[in-house]
Amino acid sequence: VAQGTVDRAYDQLVAEGYLSRGVGRGTFVRGVRPSTMRDVRRLPATAPAAAASRAGGQTPWARRVQLLDGYGAPSVRAFVANGPALDQFPVGLWARLVGRRLRRITSRDLLGAGPAGAPALREAVWEYVQAERGVRCTLDQVLIVAGVREALDLVSRVVLRPGDVAMLEDPGYRGARAVFAAHGARLLPTPVDAEGVVLPTRTRARPRIAYVTPAHQFPQGVHMSAARRLALLAWAHQRDTLIFEDDYDSEYRYRGRPLPALQGLDTAQRVCYAGSFSKVLYPGLRLGYLVVPPPLLDAVLATRSISTLHPPMLEQLVVAEFLADGHFHRHVRRMREIYAERHDALLDAARREWAGALEVSPIEAGLQTLGWLRDGVDVDALCARAARADITLESLEQWAIRPLARPGVQLGFATIAPADLRAGVTRLARVLEAPGLRGGS
Ligand SMILES: Cc1ncc(COP(=O)(O)O)c(C=O)c1O
Repeated sequence: VAQGTVDRAYDQLVAEGYLSRGVGRGTFVRGVRPSTMRDVRRLPATAPAAAASRAGGQTPWARRVQLLDGYGAPSVRAFVANGPALDQFPVGLWARLVGRRLRRITSRDLLGAGPAGAPALREAVWEYVQAERGVRCTLDQVLIVAGVREALDLVSRVVLRPGDVAMLEDPGYRGARAVFAAHGARLLPTPVDAEGVVLPTRTRARPRIAYVTPAHQFPQGVHMSAARRLALLAWAHQRDTLIFEDDYDSEYRYRGRPLPALQGLDTAQRVCYAGSFSKVLYPGLRLGYLVVPPPLLDAVLATRSISTLHPPMLEQLVVAEFLADGHFHRHVRRMREIYAERHDALLDAARREWAGALEVSPIEAGLQTLGWLRDGVDVDALCARAARADITLESLEQWAIRPLARPGVQLGFATIAPADLRAGVTRLARVLEAPGLRGGS
C-alpha cells in the first residue's frame, strides 16, 4: 500500500489510543486491548433493579420523589384524554419557520440567554399574557420554562420547606401533587364545587402555597367564579399563602368570553402565573411560561441558573416568531373550531345514547370533560370492559386524593374525529347496558 495509507492507519491507531508515538522515540504498542474498548457497548439497556433501588433510597428527596408519567402514546381512540390533536399541527409551516430562523441565527442566539429565557420569546409572551389573559406584570417578571412542571418545581424549590402545607384541588392535576410531595410538603386536598376550589376556612392550617386552575379546573372543567377568585385572594392574603395559578389550555374556550387570569386581580404580589405551549402547540416542545411576583424573582432566577439555565434557544426563537407573526392566533382559532365540533359531537351523541347511565358535564373550555356514573357502578370494571370494546376510559379516581362522592370517568374528545366519537358513544352505550356493572352484582 502507499505510504500515505500507512501513515493514516498509524494516525488512526494513535488517535484511538492503541499506539503511542513520540518524535525521535518511535511508535509503541500500548497495553490497551481492543476488547476493553468494545466491552463498553455491551452494557444492558436497563440497570439491574436492585442497584437502581439502592441508589434511589439514599436521600429524603430521592425517597419522596415519584416518577411522573410523560404524555402517553399518541392515540385517536375514543375517549383518550389530556392531549391535543397532533395530526392537525401545521408541521410544514413549522419547518419553514425553523429553517428561516436558523438561517438568521446570530452568535448571540447560539451563545444562549440568561436564566429567564430568550428575550424575543419573553417579550412575545409578555404581550400575549397582558393582551389575552389580563395578566399584569413587567417584562422582567416573565420567564420561559420547560412547561408547567418546571414552573411548579422552580417555585416550590424557592418557597417550600419540608413540613409546609400545600393546598391543592382534589381531584386535581397529579403533577402538582407529585412536585409538592417531593419537596416534603404536607398536602391539603380541597374539594371543588361549581364555582371552583372550596376554600378551607375551618382549618387552622396556613398553606405556604395553593395550586389552582381557575380558567377551567382540571379535571372537572368548571371555571372559578369572580366571587370565588376575590375570596381566594383575600383568604390567601390573611394566611400569607402564595397562589400558583395554572392557566393551562385557557386558549380553548368554546362559549362566552374568557375570564381574565386571577393574577390580574392580585394587588398583593402573591400569585405566580403559569401557562403552557404543550396543548396549544405540542407537548414535546417542552415550553411554557411563568410570571413571578417581584419578591420571589431573584430567588427563582438564581435557582434556574444552577440547573437548566433556560430551554433550547432555537425552539424559543421559533415560538417567538410564531406568536409575533400571527400564526399562533390563527392556529388557536382553527383548533378551537375543530375541538368545538368534536365537543358538540360527543355531547349530542352522549345525550341520545347514554341518558341515565353516564351524565356528561358540559364544559366551556379545555380538551376533555367528565362523565358521571350512577352511584354503585364499579368504575374499574367499566373501564376494563370499555377497553375490550376498544374504548379508553380513565377513572376520575386517579386524579383524586380522597375518596370521590360520585364515580366518574374522563372523556377526551380533542384527538378523535366526530364520526369516531359517535361510534365510540354507541359502543360504550352497549357496554353500559350490559349486566353486572353495579357494585356487588
Ligand atoms: C392541569 C395541567 N397543567 C399543566 C399541564 C401541562 O404541563 P406541561 O406544561 O409541563 O406539559 C397539564 C398536562 O397534562 C395539565 O393537565
